[in-house]
Amino acid sequence: MVIFKKTADLQQYITSERIAGRNIGFIPTMGALHAGHISLINTALNNKDLVVCSIFVNPTQFNDKKDYEKYPVTVNEDIGMLVEAGCDVLFLPGIEEIYPEGTDKSPVFDFGYLDTILEGAQRPGHFKGVGQVVSLLFDAVHPQNVYMGQKDYQQCMVIKKLLAITGLQDKIRLHICPTVREADGLAMSSRNRRLTEPQRMLAGCIYQCLVSIESKADTATFEVVKKECTDLLAAKGFIPEYIALANADDLTLLNNYTPAPPMVALIAVRLGEVRLIDNLVLNNTSTQA
Ligand code: PAF
Repeated sequence: MVIFKKTADLQQYITSERIAGRNIGFIPTMGALHAGHISLINTALNNKDLVVCSIFVNPTQFNDKKDYEKYPVTVNEDIGMLVEAGCDVLFLPGIEEIYPEGTDKSPVFDFGYLDTILEGAQRPGHFKGVGQVVSLLFDAVHPQNVYMGQKDYQQCMVIKKLLAITGLQDKIRLHICPTVREADGLAMSSRNRRLTEPQRMLAGCIYQCLVSIESKADTATFEVVKKECTDLLAAKGFIPEYIALANADDLTLLNNYTPAPPMVALIAVRLGEVRLIDNLVLNNTSTQA
């Protein structure tokens, strides 16, 4: 695996690979890699892309300074995992490489409705930061394929919108890849390593709630199931931020189950100091890689 810290060096390498006929498959990450990230690398490798992974903990997407400061940084371990997975290129820029003129000078995109609900409402400015850094990373990497995890469902929709806003939707294909889960259903996340052992034992409950939202779609109202899930999570010590049902295509929030569009259930909770999110597409038709 080749590691580049400078955009110019990365671009020189990528240009020669493009001339040799390779497609660039890009996996943007903030490091603290886990099996979910490696599954994205594997999907890109299966597609015969030249696989470029980036690790950059982007300060502009953290609305909570403490969350940024505590974000796990495990670069050496990450490099080992990427080498083992067969990743071709790691882009490991410093902050001055991504924001040479400071974070204020970089482009900011308006994601409209998507930025006003769920994660957008709970984490003001988060998606502005995500859009900003991902557009700069796209400029650096010039990928043909981008692979992102369904675990961050709303982020995937934001990136879809970013591609539309920037006119890149015909040049870059976004692959939304299935969430990878632990044995108890907990979605893999870099934040899981911040859970204490007792918290980790409880965390599978989030997925159980999603499954219950799905399984009761034909027999109960969403209001009732939402209340059951809220009570269950609260009884176990979680602080639920939202338990929501939405149209899986455009994330319009729904008050109740509907037979027409594919639906997605989304949950965000706090467990101690750690914030966890997860989702489940109820009638799964629209989110495969
Ligand atoms: O999902 C993440 O790890 C980050 O939000 C991303 C897409 C790498 C942007 O910093």
